[in-house]
Amino acid sequence: MLIHQPFGDFYGTYRALEAALKSGKCRAIGVSNFFADRMVDLCQFVEVKPHVNQLETHVFQQQAAMRPILAENGTQLQAWGPLAEGKNGFFTNPVLTEIGAKYHKSAAQVALRFLVQSGVSAIPKASSRDHMEQNFAVFDFALSAEDMEQITKLDTGSSLFVNHSDPNFVKYITSLKA
Ligand SMILES: NC(=O)c1ccc[n+]([C@@H]2O[C@H](COP(=O)([O-])OP(=O)(O)OC[C@H]3O[C@@H](n4cnc5c(N)ncnc54)[C@H](OP(=O)(O)O)[C@@H]3O)[C@@H](O)[C@H]2O)c1
Repeated sequence: MLIHQPFGDFYGTYRALEAALKSGKCRAIGVSNFFADRMVDLCQFVEVKPHVNQLETHVFQQQAAMRPILAENGTQLQAWGPLAEGKNGFFTNPVLTEIGAKYHKSAAQVALRFLVQSGVSAIPKASSRDHMEQNFAVFDFALSAEDMEQITKLDTGSSLFVNHSDPNFVKYITSLKA
């Protein structure tokens, strides 16, 4: 069970998650979109550090700066938007397609394998059966060190979706009702 955004009474919400964990109502607790400042702050004052932090993570936004902070707290990085929802020519990216051709895999499969192989858990969304099958078939091959290095160079270090510090985004997201 995760907190979606670090806004509002997220400490109160986190305490409720800790209680749910203790009473066996859930098996793991965590956060999402908690960037460095919120993540470090939260970890100073909780009993159970987040098991997971779900962040936008894909080949163009690899969350390099967040990884040591997550590792330090034993928090697993989980990728939302692991295929960048197809943005930025994702599925026809020449680095991904050329590497994929060597292994008879698609760009999507190479991109997911890159995440898995670098210790990131990924939750791709797929509505077609073909995509779902492709996305499961990433455990029967391994990228070489050179492939990993080439894909690492695709990182831009910035979001393709949203600036979480933008006041208009904060107003929008905090106005959503369950
Ligand atoms: N925590 C957060 O703030 C947050 C934010 C955004 C998203 N999420 C979650 O993250 C998960 C996935 O992220 P997402 O939906 O944003 O995007 P995504 O997984 O990066 O991309 C989904 C898109 O990729 C296509 N696709 C999937 N597999 C493919 C393949 N093998 N080849 C080609 N195209 C493929 C899908 O098409 P089809 O549907 O046609 O198969 C869909 O259009 C969802 O569960 C979502 O709820 C969380």
